[in-house]
Order: sequence, then C-alpha cells, then structure tokens
Amino acid sequence: KKKALVFDTSLLLKQPSLPTQFIWPHGDLVTTQEELNEPLVDLEGFFRGDMAATTTAAEFIRAACLSHGFFQVTNHGIDLGLVRAAHDHMDAFFKLPITKKLSARRKPGSVCGYSGAHADRYSSKLPWKETFSFGYHGDGHGHVVVDYFKSVLGGDFEETGWVYEKYCEAMKRLSLAVMELLAISLGVERSHYRKFFEDGSSIMRCNYYPPCHEPGLTLGTGPHCDPTSLTILHQDEVGGLQVFANNKWQGIRPLPNALVINIGDTFMALSNGRYKSCLHRAVVSRERARRSLAYFVCPKEDKVVRPPPPLDVAPRNYPDFTWSDLLRFTQTHYRADVTTLQTFF
Ligand code: SIN
Ligand code: FE2
Repeated sequence: KKKALVFDTSLLLKQPSLPTQFIWPHGDLVTTQEELNEPLVDLEGFFRGDMAATTTAAEFIRAACLSHGFFQVTNHGIDLGLVRAAHDHMDAFFKLPITKKLSARRKPGSVCGYSGAHADRYSSKLPWKETFSFGYHGDGHGHVVVDYFKSVLGGDFEETGWVYEKYCEAMKRLSLAVMELLAISLGVERSHYRKFFEDGSSIMRCNYYPPCHEPGLTLGTGPHCDPTSLTILHQDEVGGLQVFANNKWQGIRPLPNALVINIGDTFMALSNGRYKSCLHRAVVSRERARRSLAYFVCPKEDKVVRPPPPLDVAPRNYPDFTWSDLLRFTQTHYRADVTTLQTFF
C-alpha cells in the first residue's frame, strides 16, 4: 500500500518541475473547451408547490439523468451568505501550516479528515488537491460537525464547525427536496426516496486545488464516478469540473448562485440503472486556486439498496446491496475508470 504523500504546496511549487507522482497518463490529460448543456433547473415554483413548475423541473431532471446525470439548480433555498462563509472558512483552514492540517489527518480506513493527495484512493496518479472531509447525520441529536471540528482542530474551530453544521443541515434539506423531484421524474411514489434518505448519514468534502505551473500534466481529481447516491456541489468561479458524456470531456460552467447536482452509483442502482452515474474529473488552473464544496448524500449504512415499484421489474440491473458493503468495497478496490457497481458485482 502506498504511503500518503505530504502535500505541502509551498514546497511543491518551488520545485522546477512537477514531481512525477502528479503526472497523469497522456490519455487522461485530453483537454477540452466544450461545455455540457446540462439544464439549469429553477426550484422556485417547486418549493412554492406550483404543480406546473414542479412537472417542468422533473422533466428537465429526467432528461439530464437519462443521458449523463448532471444538472444545476437555482433558487435552491440555500443562503448564498452561508455558501460564501463555507468557502471562507475553508480558505482559512487550507492556509494553516501543514503541521496543523496534519493533526486532522484522515486515518486509514476512514473517510473523515484532512488529506493531501488522496494517495491511497487512486491506483494510478496523485491528484493535485487537498481535501477535508467529515460526516453528517442530521438526526436532530447533537451537533456532530461542531464536535468533529473541535475534536480534531481545537476550540478555535468551533465557529467553522457551526458554519459547516448549518451548511450540511441546508444541504440535507435540499437533498430531500431533490429526492422528491427524482421520484416524480421516475414515476415512483413521491415520498419514497425522501423517506429512504431521511435517516441517512452523508459525507461533506471541501476540495482545495492550488494553482499548478504545469496544469496540462496533472489533474485535480482524476476520472471517477461517485459511489454515493447524490452529490450536491458548489464550485467557485474558477471552474474545472468536467463530465465525460457523449464520448468527450465537457465542462460544467461555474455559476455562483447555482449548485451542481449529479447522480452517483447508489442512486443509479435505486433507479434500476435508468439514471446514469457519469464519469467526471476536475482540472486545475495555472493562475488561480480553485475550491469546491461537495455534499455526498448516502443512505443509512444498513439500508438495502433496491429499486422501488414500478422500477423493480425484471430485468434487475443490480442485485440488492447495502451502502456499508459498497462503501467498504470502494475503500479497498477503488477503480477510477468504471462505476463501482461494475467491479462490485
Ligand atoms: C469530485 O468530483 O470529486 C470533485 C469535483 C470538483 O471539485 O468540481
Ligand atoms: Fe465526484
């Protein structure tokens, strides 16, 4: 097993050439200027209970999910001041001395904590990024995020913990609303997925991509499909998220007021393969640091993942499984080039 490389950007950037661990295979480095024409779904009417607007939103989401699984939402109900605060607090965290960040280092086998170059998750090359991840249950008991920040970083990070506690709370609320739209769009009983995910525990990941003097040789996040159910992402104005759809890489334009949502492997299974979990990656910039905040929606660990009626008819594309089995599998057998489900079964 590879030893995690300490990702101290200030030292890395002083090196005349990119360390070889960060140089990706030629085939992965194909650049693109194209943009994906993913729909921008306005959620205002849906939240107001307007039937026609709800149907329209569900239709846009259905078309996107049948083809590549990516869409953006506006009027999502998340306070933009909270989004900004979440970015600002992450900036402050990633600017800390490396020794302080390493005190919150991710332990082997855990998804929580600080990681520079997610070394053991990828079989090939190292991503040009730092991440900080933590879990969120949102079951109304205690404040898991505040407690986590205080326990790994100390009392000075209580306020940061509160910002993220609120951010996760807001993401959970939005994710359950989107679950309703997904149900409507699939012809499933409207509250089915909402109820399925209500007691779930999600994962929050803050991504920081330092500028790179050789952006054409490396990747911020290598090609992968999300093994989780649904991802809600806020990317800053730098941009860099790209999706492999219709046989080519296409960028997702950064929209400060919007959130990017994509289907993960687990939801693909819950839709009996109708909705796509699509390969995506993040490229880095020569001039500017880039940030993104990803909230990964997951079911409760022991829940059986099985498509509901009327999607549960033969042929079933995937056997039943639990999220904890799939999560354990992704931590040991991660393959960046295919969905986890293809290697899991
Ligand atoms: C990811 O897909 O894991 C990262 C996406 C991003 O930073 O835009
Ligand atoms: Fe992803």
